[in-house]
Amino acid sequence: MAIARNIQDSLARASWIRKMFEEGARLKEVHGPENVFDFSLGNPNLEPPEAFLDALAREAADRGPGRHAYMPNPGYPDVREAVAQRVSREQEVSVSGAEVVMTCGAAGALNVIFKAILDPGDEVLTPTPFFVEYGYYAANHGGKLVTVPTAEDFSLDLSAFEAAISPKTKAVLLNSPNNPTGQVYSTESLERLSALLARKSKELGRVIYLLSDEPYRGIAFDGIKVPSILAAYENSIVATSYSKELSIPGERIGFLAVNPAAEDHDLLLAALAMTNRILGFVNAPALLQRAVGAVPHAMVNPAPYQANRDILCKGLAEAGYRFTTPKGAFYLFPKSPIPDDVAFVAELQKERILAVPGSGFGGPGHFRLAFCVDSATIENALPGFARAIKNVS
Ligand SMILES: Cc1ncc(COP(=O)(O)O)c(C=O)c1O
Repeated sequence: MAIARNIQDSLARASWIRKMFEEGARLKEVHGPENVFDFSLGNPNLEPPEAFLDALAREAADRGPGRHAYMPNPGYPDVREAVAQRVSREQEVSVSGAEVVMTCGAAGALNVIFKAILDPGDEVLTPTPFFVEYGYYAANHGGKLVTVPTAEDFSLDLSAFEAAISPKTKAVLLNSPNNPTGQVYSTESLERLSALLARKSKELGRVIYLLSDEPYRGIAFDGIKVPSILAAYENSIVATSYSKELSIPGERIGFLAVNPAAEDHDLLLAALAMTNRILGFVNAPALLQRAVGAVPHAMVNPAPYQANRDILCKGLAEAGYRFTTPKGAFYLFPKSPIPDDVAFVAELQKERILAVPGSGFGGPGHFRLAFCVDSATIENALPGFARAIKNVS
């Protein structure tokens, strides 16, 4: 077979998750999609804000010259400036357009960053459980993802980070609000992590970067503010997208923002512009850049997600499930009532409920529910959740 061996291996490893999705498709065909309660996918169910759709239509209708031409690899300067103003407000650090690179989603941003900073064998530390694509993204560029345990409520465990840092550590990658747990890391924990990274960077004689993957920043509950990474640590880079905040994951638009105080700042930015180009992205889509640049403050209303969280958490708690209440994003990561999370997800399938085993996120003994669904789906699934836990108890 001519397919690359590592891709064959990855396909084989991922196959049981694929089986869950295939089983979901089968259940929908047998019972009708309305009788299957699908919590498996993080695909936003809210429509994009009107302001964004209007801006997109206006930009698409503009027949001015050069609207579809190549541009500087980091993106349109005026769009980067508009994005920088938004980042400055959110992060409480003054960022300029020169420090922003427009990317093909957060996934594109992370690959661009890894390509720019990783040498072969370099390690990227991330707390568990984690967005499973991180391992592939690091490996794409010769790096290795190293997972770091978290506390019982998925908050950061600083002593675990201290133990995991090695001479090969090039970066720490955080995701807050988190997929799959909904945890938001506190300012105090970020400050402690930042002090640790500053000390370890000094010992190593080179920078350890702090990377913040934050596509769920705008989806935070109960009025909490997601703490700033750029304010916490100088050698930091934000990677994010509009996928969840504008409900446009199919459009592939996002950005990265480099801390203005980062060491070798100009070289780092030149490297990021270059890796955006040579990874084959060349630049983020022109039309989408102009549309998001025109409405930099547009955002979906997170209230429906919070309402869904409340219905789901109340129902599952009443049924006897144990979990940490999410502070943001649209995921819940309950404990599986039996140690084998794959077996419990199969039990849920008997109730026509689709979930993803925690093992798929480096969090065995748990399962993930994406609650970016109609609230009726949650209400109608609750009796099935109650039966499933009873059946295994
Ligand atoms: C934590 C996390 N990071 C990155 C991504 C990728 O985002 P995008 O689709 O904007 O590339 C996702 C998508 O679900 C995610 O959950």
